[in-house]
Amino acid sequence: MTSEIADHWGKGDVYSLIISALNRMSKSLNDLTLEDLAPVDHFHARGLPATVELADRLPIKPGHHILDIGCGLGGPARYMANRFRCKVSGLDITVPFVDAANKLTALLQMEQDVKIEQGDGQRLPYPDACFDGAYTQHVTMNVADRQRFFMEAFRVLKPGAFFALSEHGLGPKGEPHHPVPWSADGSGAYLLAPSETRRLLQRVGFEDIAIEDTGTKYAAGYRNAIEKAEKGALPPLGVHILMGDSALQKTRNTLRNIEEGRTHPIQLICRKPG
Ligand SMILES: C[S@@+](CC[C@H](N)C(=O)[O-])C[C@H]1O[C@@H](n2cnc3c(N)ncnc32)[C@H](O)[C@@H]1O
Repeated sequence: MTSEIADHWGKGDVYSLIISALNRMSKSLNDLTLEDLAPVDHFHARGLPATVELADRLPIKPGHHILDIGCGLGGPARYMANRFRCKVSGLDITVPFVDAANKLTALLQMEQDVKIEQGDGQRLPYPDACFDGAYTQHVTMNVADRQRFFMEAFRVLKPGAFFALSEHGLGPKGEPHHPVPWSADGSGAYLLAPSETRRLLQRVGFEDIAIEDTGTKYAAGYRNAIEKAEKGALPPLGVHILMGDSALQKTRNTLRNIEEGRTHPIQLICRKPG
């Protein structure tokens, strides 16, 4: 199932797709900035603003080593490295995303600070207690063994380190409509209610679990994307180029799922005991 999930997210040459869009915008690759790539490399509906809001809450210090689990194209990892002067290791199951992420990091000359590799968050290829913090943004909807994913995050964190997560949790009003960005038809989707996520994190040993409801903010992000798409006003560079022909339908369903209480978007921060 993991390879099917990777196939769902990214096929082909994702890097070339992004470079073609930049070329259509007459953007020179020589002086590319983090902001130039932000419309596509923060792969969640609210994009860069959601990453900034998460970062505002994280106790990252210069020199820290942070883990981004399910880092996608690496936009959030590069943002954290640049903002906090920290090192970020990223891991993602989707090979075309890992390939594009490393090429984009090289274009921005950030290879010293951001390293991205292919792997599964349920089996982290890192030693125990080596990271000062970890986050996973809009990844866990695809994670079948959520307890193992959390145990692995717990294992690789130093005592006192933070763990942060944002996701679409399962809402109280029944199964989501599909397709959505993380699943075409419900296969590979393992949504959990926020109360169950909290329970699993506690069972694994995390403490100080703070959950924030982000549904209203996400719904506004999806409405904005739908309005632009319906007007034919989507820019050449955006996450829609990663979602294929059904991008608009996926976005409409994601909004509808929030409005009907079928999903429950959250942002969560907790801590490994010190
Ligand atoms: C919506 S994208 C988010 C990417 C990135 N976190 C961001 O915010 O820009 C979801 C990502 O989760 C990755 N993913 C899904 N299941 C995973 C797993 N078990 N281990 C690692 N990555 C996973 C997918 O390959 C995809 O890149």
